[in-house]
Amino acid sequence: MRLGVLSYPQAGRIRSVAKLVKNLGRQMSNVVIRKASTDDTDALARLASQTFLDAFERSNEPRNIRAYVKQAFSPPQIAKELLEDTSTFFVAERDSALIAYAKVRTLQAPECVQSQAATELHRIYVEHRFVGTGIGQMLLDAAIRAAEEAGHDVLWLGVWENNPDAAAFYERFGFNQVGRQVFMMGPEEQTDLIMMRRL
Ligand SMILES: CC(C)(COP(=O)(O)OP(=O)(O)OC[C@H]1O[C@@H](n2cnc3c(N)ncnc32)[C@H](O)[C@@H]1OP(=O)(O)O)[C@@H](O)C(=O)NCCC(=O)NCCS
Repeated sequence: MRLGVLSYPQAGRIRSVAKLVKNLGRQMSNVVIRKASTDDTDALARLASQTFLDAFERSNEPRNIRAYVKQAFSPPQIAKELLEDTSTFFVAERDSALIAYAKVRTLQAPECVQSQAATELHRIYVEHRFVGTGIGQMLLDAAIRAAEEAGHDVLWLGVWENNPDAAAFYERFGFNQVGRQVFMMGPEEQTDLIMMRRL
């Protein structure tokens, strides 16, 4: 159908209906969001490696990103983080498989995050084939609920300046940019935008 021949209100209505039908068709069922434990170490390490590569391999020096992934998402590293008091992982599970995860951690927040009780959404990744099906929102809701329950007043995060899709997702949920910070992809210095949302 050529929307160009329709009047603006007609085209708008058709776009809205098309979006509704697409969303209904892609609505995920049987997805459980839960906290992860050390029993999830291997599956989480695999998921974290794969989703990071899917998101960023094309836009990075292969050697740098491979080295980063090997270090950041190795099973021993993930096992260590799962046991840290300062970190919490949430996973999305479907048919006994992990398909997405988020990690919240509480370390010193950057100066531009004006809060005495901030916590960080350190990672949120959805398996490529499930992107856009509402799972990111489910994980973010779980992270926000847990942060509020733990008495935090701000959730902040760093998002690569070359990742506008993720930045738009965060904006959709009330995050605003408040600063920038350096992220090292191996030897390469990159810029992350710092975004925060009051809880
Ligand atoms: C970013 C990410 C976690 C979002 O999860 P998702 O499951 O794709 O998002 P959802 O389907 O839950 O979207 C929820 C809402 O955000 C909106 N949204 C999602 N992506 C968006 C985008 N690129 N631009 C604008 N809005 C967006 C959706 O439209 C939806 O809003 P609606 O309810 O009004 O329609 C996921 O896309 C992902 O894993 N991306 C690759 C890895 C990545 O970049 N991670 C973040 C690193 S900082």
